[in-house]
Parts: sequence; structure tokens; C-alpha cells
Amino acid sequence: QMIDIIGVPYDLGASCKGGRMGPDAFRCAGLVTRLRELGCDVLDRGDVKLPAAGEPYGWSRTGEESVSGSPKARHLPEIVSLNKRLFRAVSGSHHNQRIPLVLGGDHSLAIGSVAGTASQLEGPLGVIWFDAHGDLNTFKTTPSGNIHGMSLAASLGYGHPILTKLSGLRPKVRPEHVVLIGARSLDPGELKLIQQTGIRVFTIREIDRIGMQEVMQQALAISTRDTAGLHLSFDLDALDPADAPGVGTPVAHGVRLDEAMLAMKFIYENGSLRSADFVELNPVLDLRNRTGKAGVELICTLFGK
Ligand code: ARG
Ligand code: MN
Ligand code: MN
Ligand code: MN
Repeated sequence: QMIDIIGVPYDLGASCKGGRMGPDAFRCAGLVTRLRELGCDVLDRGDVKLPAAGEPYGWSRTGEESVSGSPKARHLPEIVSLNKRLFRAVSGSHHNQRIPLVLGGDHSLAIGSVAGTASQLEGPLGVIWFDAHGDLNTFKTTPSGNIHGMSLAASLGYGHPILTKLSGLRPKVRPEHVVLIGARSLDPGELKLIQQTGIRVFTIREIDRIGMQEVMQQALAISTRDTAGLHLSFDLDALDPADAPGVGTPVAHGVRLDEAMLAMKFIYENGSLRSADFVELNPVLDLRNRTGKAGVELICTLFGK
């Protein structure tokens, strides 16, 4: 497999800072070497460029946060400009017949990566979204104003037009092709949107009840039926905090690492994967890079280990 690694070192979409160091924490855990050992053709494309000094940006070189956007969509202008850059990087990888592997950074980056992959497929895109949360808020329903809680909604065409229209075509993905796995913290507005759109949600309770094998059989059936390719967006807070302490918004009783590894194996065997994100890694909160290493294990399994 031919893989392009694209780092997105920013955390403006989250209130908890430190995710900007996520991409390097994956690299420090040996990601590139491990993938090459598997026989993958890996290019580390480096990080998406941050705005130069003088351009609007949400944090200064000394680390303090400045205010932009609105309380209902914090740092909206910066997140839009970074996602446009990511959109171009992801589209470029597809253009070269390569699989973009996007390392975060907070989950708002999925707006650009989903849009990039959707723009390059011959047909509809399927999405598997691992997350403790729904990321199905809009600026009307958000309890926090953090855009990382809005990225799946935006990809479906719900929310601020500047997010839903990023790159033009909209929506990027249809609800009947989306599955959410590991959810255990959904806000009222998100539950409403799930009901309204009919997105299939596999909660932790359901994973415990029917098992990850059955969950993945159903999830892959939904996300690959009548689609031209699959995008995996993996928020590391889907995992149990014991396996992934290095995330800004942990929620108790998550997916265990061995269950998630099994899920990655099923996605690999299915063969439809066209792009992936691994996001919300926050090294500042981690324990000896445990979460970064867990991410590397998941990625290696996803690519055939
Ligand atoms: N639902 C909450 C919110 O909208 C938390 C979102 C957390 N999202 C994430 N990608 N970790 O603020
Ligand atoms: Mn989450
Ligand atoms: Mn469990
Ligand atoms: Mn998320």
C-alpha cells in the first residue's frame, strides 16, 4: 500500500490545548518505521503549514490563546483556512494514487479530510467514525463552541455554511453511508440529528452486547454498500481511558484496545479503505506516549499487521 502521512498540528477546535503536538507523538512512537516494516510504501509529507506570522492565528508563539470566531464557533476563520490546506493535501494524495493518513490534532480536521476524499471518488463516500462523542453539533446546538464537536455534522451538510461548503460540493457524505462506533456521550442536539438522519450508531452498550466482530460486519455493510470507497475517522477518545489517557475529552468505559484492533483488522480485510484520520492525541496529557503507541498499533493493524 502507498501511504502519505499528513500531520495537522493544531488544536484550535478543542478547548483543551496540546493536540498540536499529536502528529509528532505518533512519529516518536515509530509510525513510519513500523509501517515500512509491514512493506508499505510510506512518505511522510510533514505537517500542513500553519499560517505565517502576521496572518490571523489562534495562538501566539508564546502559547497564549487569542480570541477569534464566535462563542458558538471558536476560531472559525483559522479552522477554515487550515481545513482548506488539508483538503488540498488530501486531494493531492489521491491524485497520486496514495492513501492519505492524517494525524491530528483535534477532530475538526476531519472536515477537510472527508471533503478531500469525497472530492476524488467516482461515487459516494462511506464513513466509519470511531468516537466517544457524536461530533454532530452545529453552531446552534453546541454546548461548548468547539468545532471538533461539529465535524461529522458539517460533513453531512449540517452547520455553518462556511464549514459545510468547504471545497464546494455538499454534503460530502450521506447519512445512510455513515456509522458511528463507540459513542457514549451524546448531547441533546446530537441525539435529535441522529433521529432525524437515521445514522447508525453502535454505542458501547451495543458493542458489549453483540461483540466487535458483529458490529464491524454491520458497519462495513452499511458504509460500503453502494459507495466508491471508505474513510475511517478514528478519535482516540473512542478508546477506554485506561488504553488512551492522552486525550482532551476522555469518557469512561470505552472501546478496549484489543476490540479496536479487531475492528482495524476487519477494515483492512474489507479492502475499501481510501483514507484515514487518527485524531485527538494530546501528548501533554498522555502517560509515556501510551496513547501515541496505541494509535500506532491501530494504524499498523489497519494496514495489514
Ligand atoms: N459534544 C461535546 C461538544 O460539542 C464534546 C465534543 C468532543 N469532540 C471531540 N472530537 N473530542 O463540545
Ligand atoms: Mn471524541
Ligand atoms: Mn466494553
Ligand atoms: Mn471526535
